[in-house]
Amino acid sequence: MDKFMIEGGRKLCGKTEIQSAKNAVLPLLAASVLTDEQVTIRDVPAISDVENMLHILSELGCKISRTADSVIIDSVNAVSHEIPARLTKELRSSVFMLGSVLTRFRRARISYPGGCDIGLRPIDLHLSGLKRLGVEIVEENGYISCSADRLTGADILLDFPSVGATEKIILAAVKAEGTTVIRNAAKEPEIVDLQNFLNRMGGRVRGAGGGTVCIEGVKTLSGVEYTPIKDRIEAGTFLIAVASCGGELEMEGVPEENIAALLHKLRENGCKIHRKDDKIFLESSGRLRSAELIETMPFPGFPTDLQAQFSALACTSRGTTLVVENLFETRYKYAAELRRMGADITVRGRNALIRGVERLHGAAVTAGDLRGGAALVIAALGAEGQSSVADLSHIDRGYSEFERKLKKLGARIRRVRI
Ligand code: UD1
Repeated sequence: MDKFMIEGGRKLCGKTEIQSAKNAVLPLLAASVLTDEQVTIRDVPAISDVENMLHILSELGCKISRTADSVIIDSVNAVSHEIPARLTKELRSSVFMLGSVLTRFRRARISYPGGCDIGLRPIDLHLSGLKRLGVEIVEENGYISCSADRLTGADILLDFPSVGATEKIILAAVKAEGTTVIRNAAKEPEIVDLQNFLNRMGGRVRGAGGGTVCIEGVKTLSGVEYTPIKDRIEAGTFLIAVASCGGELEMEGVPEENIAALLHKLRENGCKIHRKDDKIFLESSGRLRSAELIETMPFPGFPTDLQAQFSALACTSRGTTLVVENLFETRYKYAAELRRMGADITVRGRNALIRGVERLHGAAVTAGDLRGGAALVIAALGAEGQSSVADLSHIDRGYSEFERKLKKLGARIRRVRI
């Protein structure tokens, strides 16, 4: 089990590269079994969620090969419709496989998915969407078994714009007979990326990003070479880290509209942000004003995946910040760790009240989930003295070369094996 040792209190300055979006790559990997032809995904980040997804694909019988930064999936010999339980426990996104495996084999079997322990994370919307497409579902002994002789298009209204349910239904509908319409669909940029990817394969999907997605079923899909969008959550994490420590950051390739809610809050905090061509520049004095209210919402609202990192910044902002977490009910596990560093945070249910203190101090803390772990790193980078952040397996799920990128900005951070 690795941990980071971090010497805090240094400003961060420089340019950072942004990886391809974890939440875009995972559904694209799931979609690769929809064709017998070769699928190449470029710039695939070296993160454990991707490794787990590739393991699942090879257990289904897909051949995976790699070049320096691309992954090539050849699923012509895929035979299995059963997604192994030991892998689904590691990765919630394995649930996407249900849509594409069903399309390919007309049946699929999966155990209940795992992933970050940040709340109940039900999959009722995924399952009711599949039922509308004609899928028969049996749930027993922790397994979900699905079968459908034919998948047929349907009009589906989601009770909530769930990202996973929207993507799953698209994957199951893309080769169904007839047209599927998903209303109250999630609008996240990663869904637009999935649409673009499928259309490059010959799919007929439109409307992603706008709330109503329309999928005209096609008979076949072909191979594709594709570069996914940049990771707006990784980008946001670096922007918040520099805002919190003070300094200057330059990044490229993340459209402003994909992180507009965060940029708006950082400007309220007193950061100077401007954009030139494809680049975003941020300047921060280090001790900022509080943003007063952060409320997580589906896209284009403030992303729940940046809530923890922003809360770390709020710990040393001038004034009080109220954080409201509307998506995942137990996403404050990091708060107790931040308190060890001197933060003044009170959590009540979905709300956290953070009173900014002058400075945090170093402490030994432990990551409990992916984004909460990133928040602890941000807090430690700004704190006085040395901190250790343990249980990096959470952080390694979603950030590739996190410490190398931070070091390049001037951070004192190293990984030690314990
Ligand atoms: C995806 C992201 C995750 C992000 C989340 C919200 C991936 C791989 N993961 O997760 O990083 O935090 O979107 O932006 O893309 N819900 C139900 N029933 C369902 C499905 C969801 O009630 O069947 C609820 C959830 O409990 C949650 C809300 O809907 O409260 C949002 O979840 P959802 O958008 O589905 O998140 P994920 O797809 O799991």
